[in-house]
Amino acid sequence: MTSRRVRVRLGERSYDAIVGEGLLRGLGPRVRRACATARRALLVEDRGVPARTRDAAADSLARAGLLVRRVPLAGGEGVKSPRVLERLLAAAADARLDRDDPIVSLGGGAVGDVAGLAAATYRRGTPWINCPTTLLAMVDAGVGGKTGVNLATRRGLLKNAAGCFHQPRLVVCDVAALRSLPRREFSAGLAECLKHALIARSTPRRDPSLLARTDGLLARPANRPTITDPLAALIARNVALKAGVVEHDEFERRAAGGRVLLNLGHTFAHAAETLAGLRTPAGRPLRLLHGEAVGLGLIAAANSAATLGLCPATLPASVAELVGRAGLPTRVAGLPSAAVLRRRMLDDKKSRGGVLRLILPLALGVCEVVAAPPARAIDAGWDAVRA
Ligand SMILES: NC(=O)c1ccc[n+]([C@@H]2O[C@H](COP(=O)([O-])OP(=O)(O)OC[C@H]3O[C@@H](n4cnc5c(N)ncnc54)[C@H](O)[C@@H]3O)[C@@H](O)[C@H]2O)c1
Ligand SMILES: [Zn+2]
Repeated sequence: MTSRRVRVRLGERSYDAIVGEGLLRGLGPRVRRACATARRALLVEDRGVPARTRDAAADSLARAGLLVRRVPLAGGEGVKSPRVLERLLAAAADARLDRDDPIVSLGGGAVGDVAGLAAATYRRGTPWINCPTTLLAMVDAGVGGKTGVNLATRRGLLKNAAGCFHQPRLVVCDVAALRSLPRREFSAGLAECLKHALIARSTPRRDPSLLARTDGLLARPANRPTITDPLAALIARNVALKAGVVEHDEFERRAAGGRVLLNLGHTFAHAAETLAGLRTPAGRPLRLLHGEAVGLGLIAAANSAATLGLCPATLPASVAELVGRAGLPTRVAGLPSAAVLRRRMLDDKKSRGGVLRLILPLALGVCEVVAAPPARAIDAGWDAVRA
């Protein structure tokens, strides 16, 4: 499999994202090139990644002459906490990292988000090398420089409530790591691929055929972790699409047309993924993964748009079909009332000044920002995913 390189162009903060097979075995020389004066490295590892893969990355860093301190973390959303952030900062200090020494994260988006925030804040900023190991983290969280942790508040858990922008120096997506990824997590990553495909015509690096390509992969039961060149190519195209959006609006300042587009489905998703008491349509208890919540959010957004007459009436069914074929839930039981859900959406940090902004599809691949959508449109979105 050939490796693919995507350049994220952000002036002096520019960097490469590399997608290929077996890249972690050669991580050391790449980190050396990205951080020429480094002597030490803190390797923040996701325990969900098989030890063999993590050891290979650590060995490669050591062979490249870096003194490596390893910090294994239980993977998953729970690591995105101020407590884990403090632990990483203390580990960096104990390992005597200086400002040229990188923090290297190896794991899912959650480990990347907290390790990235540690890199952003340790001694006011150290280099960060990000090695995403889930499909979701490769296609989405890996590039863009958003780092953060969740905050436990009286109103419940607020996602990504503390964090900052800190671009990585290098992103290494070793698709071989995806072999151990559970099927459910793989499908969660496909949700972000679908999100990208559904905004692809509205982004700077327009990729009008991304939807057809994603669709093609879904048809060839790719919701199983089979590592193929077409999958690596799709990951690279998703990285390029996100890179284009980030280059256009690095700090999410544009009210329309910038990074905010990447929030398609996410205002619904963030409300859904922290809910307790959800069940599958068959009645089994269900805790939604981020990607699963995004899949539901895509369906909900399509239905909101259709209710407002913004998109063809057939669009919601097309979106639901894509989400279903990715192996993701299309409906959940146990959602609270429409009023409760609307209030949770207002809590989401995207609702600036108390005004809710939804990204809604106008056609497959084309989206726009709609400020203060009427309640009936939001409720129609939720109704579409209510089992
Ligand atoms: N920073 C951003 O721009 C951005 C963008 C999208 C999502 N995110 C964040 O990313 C997080 C979700 O990331 P995620 O979907 O990667 O989930 P995750 O980080 O929670 O990882 C999912 C699970 O997979 C395990 N795992 C990781 N790599 C594995 C591998 N190779 N084999 C087997 N198991 C493996 C982990 O241990 C964990 O249990 C959320 O917190 C979300 O908010 C951030
Ligand atoms: Zn997301």
